[in-house]
Amino acid sequence: MDNILARYNELVSLIKKYNQEYYINNISVISDYDYDLLYKELVNLEKDNPDIVSERSPTKLVGDIDNSSVVLDKKIKHQVRMYSLENSYSRDDIIDFIDKVKKVVDVDVKHIEFVIEPKIDGAAVSIKYSGGVLVEAVTRGDGVVGEDIFENIKCLGVLPETIEDKRELIIRGEAYMPISTFNKLNIDREAEGETLFANPRNVAAGSLKLLDSSKVLARGIKLFLYSLDLGRKFNNHYDDILYLSKLGFPVNDNIFKFSETDDIMDSIFKIEKIRDKLNYELDGAVLKVNDYSIREELGHTSKYPRFAISYKYKSESARTKLLSVTYQVGRTGAITPVAELEPVQLSGSVIGRATLHNNDEIKRLEIKLGDTVIIEKGGEVIPKIISVDRDIENIDGRDIEIPTVCPVCGNALRSDINDVKDFCINRDCPAIVKGGLLHFASRDAMDIRGFGVKVVEQFSEHNLLKDISDIYHLDRDEILKLEGWKAQSVDNLLEAIEQSKAQPFHRVLYSIGIKHVGRTATKLIVKQFADIDTIMNAKEEDISTIHGIGSGSATTLVNFFKDDVNRKVVDRLRSSGLKFEKETDLLNKTALDKSFVITGKLSHERQYYKDLIESYGARVSSSISKNTDYLLAGSDAGSKLKKALELGITVIDERELNTILTVNS
Ligand code: IVH
Repeated sequence: MDNILARYNELVSLIKKYNQEYYINNISVISDYDYDLLYKELVNLEKDNPDIVSERSPTKLVGDIDNSSVVLDKKIKHQVRMYSLENSYSRDDIIDFIDKVKKVVDVDVKHIEFVIEPKIDGAAVSIKYSGGVLVEAVTRGDGVVGEDIFENIKCLGVLPETIEDKRELIIRGEAYMPISTFNKLNIDREAEGETLFANPRNVAAGSLKLLDSSKVLARGIKLFLYSLDLGRKFNNHYDDILYLSKLGFPVNDNIFKFSETDDIMDSIFKIEKIRDKLNYELDGAVLKVNDYSIREELGHTSKYPRFAISYKYKSESARTKLLSVTYQVGRTGAITPVAELEPVQLSGSVIGRATLHNNDEIKRLEIKLGDTVIIEKGGEVIPKIISVDRDIENIDGRDIEIPTVCPVCGNALRSDINDVKDFCINRDCPAIVKGGLLHFASRDAMDIRGFGVKVVEQFSEHNLLKDISDIYHLDRDEILKLEGWKAQSVDNLLEAIEQSKAQPFHRVLYSIGIKHVGRTATKLIVKQFADIDTIMNAKEEDISTIHGIGSGSATTLVNFFKDDVNRKVVDRLRSSGLKFEKETDLLNKTALDKSFVITGKLSHERQYYKDLIESYGARVSSSISKNTDYLLAGSDAGSKLKKALELGITVIDERELNTILTVNS
């Protein structure tokens, strides 16, 4: 038992640490695959030993981070406190709120104006402009003190660089991730076998705190500004919001101004109605007294302003019947159960299917065929089954049959102790072949335009494609014999295939489709190994020592190349002219002609920064001279820092290093 407890505590603290690194600092200290292994071990330990389960276990903080353990980079005290909002849920609550406001205010004021606006579901930020430029950006934190997110906000590219108003302005708003961006991010993560993000809010909040500012831009975070807290121009909120918009700040379009309760409620429902047509998530509406002098009179409680309240919408869900469960086979052979539902309206569309993720989820829900289920749609493309409605009886509900053979090829399935899913391991399984071909030609891979599902299905059916290497041996006349093809369309396709040969090595490696080796991993591997032969002959430990690659991915990579069939496919692709080595020309062309010196304690080993800098074609030397361009200095930097300052050399931190490398190359 002592051993179990020790391992349990170790797992809890390890996973918490990785969550922290991943969600807050966005550093993958471990691959997603290895993370999943640890997580699964923790889940199993908890299942087998319910007595030891801690309330602080990461399994109890699904999709969230334990904020108590966040190490803040730099704290900033808010010049004006950031309050949160009291919640309300009904028309009666709103009437109470309006009555209270009226009671406090002067008897002469009959018609108090209220502004009604969407409550965006993201992360609150406070920004400061002075002299017409952005000078500060801070998270809400506890409302008194927040975290410095200046670099990250600056590089989002959504705020005006300069504004004509040169006074000191404090503006607040909500940072959010558009739903389309979130879906794309998760589709990519799913394709790479990584765990999915829980919702757009978490990603937005986490992204603002990324250490590497260049990655924040890639996350596509946007902002809506919803209040001017210092430097007010008008005597009311509505006009100030219009003013912010005129200055070039992004503000929300769906803002209403009314005095009568009926109009106010109508506006709240109007916002709810357009909710599913918007490309961002909102969880309610905010009702605010418009006039600043009335706001002054009302004041605040210890937590909330008395002049504003939020009206929370119910989360969108629907009730329907589970008709059957089908099983999809992915390109890696992973089997995913899909719930086939009685079609039902949800958030403006008809839903007939929902994901059941894996067999553990079926067990967790204790779900049977014919059960009435509650489905919900968050930011995700595919709705989820949240629960079973036990009030509706399902007397002869049959158990869901978990397949033991592949639903596509009939081959026996193998369960993988490292994965919650079962796998088809027949490399000739039509579903795996088709998935592999589609992955190979997809936009982020070889990007072969016109090579989609229909083409893959038709060509496979006529035996023109057995594996990815056949793509480069397609015969023009054979295609012309097929239904629907004309000379021009065949030539277009063959031209697109020909052009794909110019794709760089890291893309080719990604396109091959090695399990657990995604886009980031292939880039990291190619940075380290110049050509395919070195990679094919590398040992597991050579690969797993690359920062950002875990031992799980290293194992699958090495096993992949141990297989003769895979090696043959690579050889055939190579003889077709695909790039299987790093282009040195390209590196030289974009090489960063700068010299760096590294000193002090940094968050990674010194070698890591050396490799990174050199991968951009720049130089790293061990001592400072007048030819040094930058000193990368961590904490406790000593004589090198002193010398750099004497010589007037630019001293940079880790964030600035990333900006310099990405901006200049
Ligand atoms: S006003 C003093 N307006 O909701 C009032 N807040 O608990 C301060 N939020 O995290 C907030 N949309 O960031 C206001 N249109 C909106 C909002 C909004 C989203 C967030 C806010 C805070 C939470 C309030």
